[in-house]
Amino acid sequence: MDRRKFLASSGVALSSAMAIPSFSKSPTPVMTAVPDSWTAVRDQFNISHKHIQMSQMLFASHPAPVREAISEYHRKFDEDPAIFWEENWVEAERRVTDAANRYTGAAPGEIALTDSTTQGLGLLYTGLKLKKGDEILTTTHDHYSTETSLDYAARRSGATIKRIDEYADPAKATVEEITRNIDTAINSRTRIVAITWVHSCDGVKLPVRAIAEVIRNANESRPAERRIYLCVDGVHGFGNQDDDIPSLGCDFFVAGTHKWLFGPRGTGLVWARTDAWDMVEPSIPAFRLNPFTRWLGQTADPDTFADLHSPGGFHAYEHRWALDRAFNFALEIGRDRIHQRTTQLSTRLKEGIRQMDKVHLFTPMDPALSAGINAFRIGKQSAGESVRAFYDHKIVASASPYTISYARLTPCVINTEDEVDRSLEAMRKIAANT
Ligand SMILES: Cc1ncc(COP(=O)(O)O)c(C=O)c1O
Repeated sequence: MDRRKFLASSGVALSSAMAIPSFSKSPTPVMTAVPDSWTAVRDQFNISHKHIQMSQMLFASHPAPVREAISEYHRKFDEDPAIFWEENWVEAERRVTDAANRYTGAAPGEIALTDSTTQGLGLLYTGLKLKKGDEILTTTHDHYSTETSLDYAARRSGATIKRIDEYADPAKATVEEITRNIDTAINSRTRIVAITWVHSCDGVKLPVRAIAEVIRNANESRPAERRIYLCVDGVHGFGNQDDDIPSLGCDFFVAGTHKWLFGPRGTGLVWARTDAWDMVEPSIPAFRLNPFTRWLGQTADPDTFADLHSPGGFHAYEHRWALDRAFNFALEIGRDRIHQRTTQLSTRLKEGIRQMDKVHLFTPMDPALSAGINAFRIGKQSAGESVRAFYDHKIVASASPYTISYARLTPCVINTEDEVDRSLEAMRKIAANT
């Protein structure tokens, strides 16, 4: 997309493409007056610039279209909660799912809506039809939410868990090393391989396609009932990479949409390849037309994964129903452009870190093995000490929440080159003082 087209579509088209019938007029600002496209994107956020925000992957700030949809829904729910819900619940959920399908390349019915990555992981892993004697293969690098969900799943089913190192040194990890370690660890009892796309501890992005290939090969000599399923916590690649999710080759993909995608806080999804649906039992009744109609004793269409695995109960619908705005916002900018920009800012940061003797970079330089999370240690400083030191320089860094914790800077499309350079300057000063 050329710059003029990008500016035009990011402004006028954003507001019209995202309007829903009940909104009389979208107040989304027209962005053609701003000097360049990334500045225009940045201006869509009300985020504070009192400090440099280098941790937006923890929890998103909402861009204008998402913010405006949320406040409009909020107002309508406060005015007439029952009627507004009755009149909109089927259509609104369809609209959100359609946008999710467009963004991910998923087939109809494959995406269940959740409240977070953690909720999706919990529902997926504890719902897997595992039994005593089965083995879950996972890694020592995974997040609390994956590890704990797997522990619950194992306790419930009697399956065992094998945890392996995917690589010895994150900065030097290779596709060959990672796939070999997984291949070697698979045995006749393995039913699940549970991995994370982008590790939030060290920033390594796993070669999911190559891992899926290893599993496809292993499955060739297995009967269908012993098939191995590949499950991915995709949250730190979702919204900054340029991949159709089905093309990754996994069977299940779980992500929050309230991090890199800048979706409404408290939203997420689980994608399940159609031929894998049968491997999971639902846990929480979905408030969806088909299962509810059937429960009422009436004829209903067959249930999709979405029908069975989008946890029900009433929700904070002002957030859930505004999620299509976040998908559309990202599609209007362009998934490829977002990916390129995230890579460009992270590479600039990592190039700078590499020049500093006292700073050790854990994240690979290669964009094929990294995304937007950049993890490092400054001298002998703890991650917490580094985060506090950055904050003294008005920079919001974060410490990875793992037994061994690293400091992280995670630039995204709201950040600028200048902010990356100022973060590097602060890092130089912090390193000089250690
Ligand atoms: C790898 C990983 N998975 C899952 C989560 C939890 O995400 P959510 O807040 O969407 O549950 C996090 C961080 O918060 C994470 O770093």
